[in-house]
Amino acid sequence: MLVAAVNWDPAREVVSRDQALGDRRIAHYLEGWPWQGDLGVVAVEPGGGVIGAVWLRLFSADDPGYGFVAADIPELSLGVVPSWRGKGVGRALLTEMARRAEESDFTRISLSVERANPARRLYADEGFTTVESGPDSDTMIKIVSGR
Ligand SMILES: CC(C)(COP(=O)(O)OP(=O)(O)OC[C@H]1O[C@@H](n2cnc3c(N)ncnc32)[C@H](O)[C@@H]1OP(=O)(O)O)[C@@H](O)C(=O)NCCC(=O)NCCS
Repeated sequence: MLVAAVNWDPAREVVSRDQALGDRRIAHYLEGWPWQGDLGVVAVEPGGGVIGAVWLRLFSADDPGYGFVAADIPELSLGVVPSWRGKGVGRALLTEMARRAEESDFTRISLSVERANPARRLYADEGFTTVESGPDSDTMIKIVSGR
């Protein structure tokens, strides 16, 4: 699902699993799973196969993710296999992750999304707002608890 997320744009050259996992800026979204504070949800089809995943990981200012905001705000990653896209799986995963983040006493969750990625609309629709804009991508956060 991490590789799927990296390869969101079909117009670009595909990044292989090995390439993705060989690049620490990408690999650190999953490396050594689970770290303390990690939270994840997988979606499975009726036959039991995994069709999507969403996960949260805390990063530090020394080793930030693309959507790093603060050390106590975990960053979200999301991917759904191509054959299951557009059927509500991504939205369901986001909703469940926000619920679990609140349950785990996080107040906010963040993410980074390229502005051209249609996923941006889904995030905005699910309550994420842009807090920082780079040349091609936005950092967005969602408040999950009023604490
Ligand atoms: C982004 C992604 C996780 C969304 O999952 P999904 O199961 O396809 O999403 P849903 O079916 O729940 O769709 C929810 C909304 O997303 C929007 N959307 C998401 N991806 C889209 C796409 N490629 N094209 C058009 N609309 C898209 C639609 O507006 C849809 O709204 P609707 O419910 O009003 O139709 C999935 O498309 C994916 O894995 N994409 C590649 C990886 C990626 O981009 N990850 C995010 C990196 S930041």
